[in-house]
Amino acid sequence: MTSSTADLTEAVGADIAVVGAAGKTGRALVAALAGRTQPRQLVRSVRRPGQYRIDLDTGEGMAAGFAGCRSVYFIAPNMHPDEPSLLGRALAAASEAGVDHVVYHSVAWPYSPRMPHHLDKARCEDELRSFASQRGLRWTILQPCAYAQNFESVLTGESEHIVTPYRIESRFSFISLDDVAEVAARVLTEGADVHHGAAYELGGPDALSVRDLVRLIEESTSRSVSVERIGVDAWMARYGQNLGIPGRARLAAMFEFYNERDFLSGSKVTEALLGREPTRVRHLIR
Ligand SMILES: NC(=O)c1ccc[n+]([C@@H]2O[C@H](COP(=O)([O-])OP(=O)(O)OC[C@H]3O[C@@H](n4cnc5c(N)ncnc54)[C@H](OP(=O)(O)O)[C@@H]3O)[C@@H](O)[C@H]2O)c1
Repeated sequence: MTSSTADLTEAVGADIAVVGAAGKTGRALVAALAGRTQPRQLVRSVRRPGQYRIDLDTGEGMAAGFAGCRSVYFIAPNMHPDEPSLLGRALAAASEAGVDHVVYHSVAWPYSPRMPHHLDKARCEDELRSFASQRGLRWTILQPCAYAQNFESVLTGESEHIVTPYRIESRFSFISLDDVAEVAARVLTEGADVHHGAAYELGGPDALSVRDLVRLIEESTSRSVSVERIGVDAWMARYGQNLGIPGRARLAAMFEFYNERDFLSGSKVTEALLGREPTRVRHLIR
């Protein structure tokens, strides 16, 4: 498959481009957009029709990827060592291509100096606002809290075991990834006339710790879930081998933060944007 401008501009209804469309968040957004519009799925490795190759690290494919697009949704790879450079490259290409609206997938509490990957998102937000005001782009920022689906395998019963490198009492305002994707799809389809200049912090309705999550699963099913609390180094040795040194350092900083702090966000903004009550974690348990 090629990623020529001609292919892309002929794609049906593809005036919305999703950067990072093959990842966990991107797949949820593409699914939420289905039925409303078929977005241009910009990915690193093309796996199916409707996907087009770009490389965020080099900028390759971006000019063609954004040509003819009204809106771009930008999702950075998880724990990338230099997210501001990736966004900067994408903004320059989007502006050059005549894109009107850039929606940036950030995180709740971006200004958290002890978590470098959050701080990078704070820098990205600043860069987006400043670039946009100089170049006449319009923008929106989504700041989701932790996804409930980070615990998908235990929620669905695929696994009965949680391994955690932070204390099990720390609480999170878990939001369903499908609710995040639904908000993002609405922002993209309602467009910049409605959402320009907004940063939406998106929490879910339940503030739960790992301990609460286990209790909730055990109370609502006949399953029993075990929790293994290990140190950050032990976790990295077991699961972090493919991450690379910067990725491991970022993840370790996040675990250390979670070890000491709750990570909470209100759900009223989520509710207003969805037009319904956000999904309760207990409704994700199977
Ligand atoms: N998990 C949470 O609770 C949470 C909460 C708030 C915000 N977030 C943020 O959400 C974002 C996405 O996370 P995720 O877990 O959905 O990510 P993910 O599953 O790791 O997906 C990232 C995608 O980026 C693509 N990619 C990697 N390097 C690339 C490159 N050089 N050029 C083009 N594409 C490249 C990958 O493509 P290939 O598949 O082709 O390799 C992958 O599909 C992250 O920035 C994260 O911080 C996550």
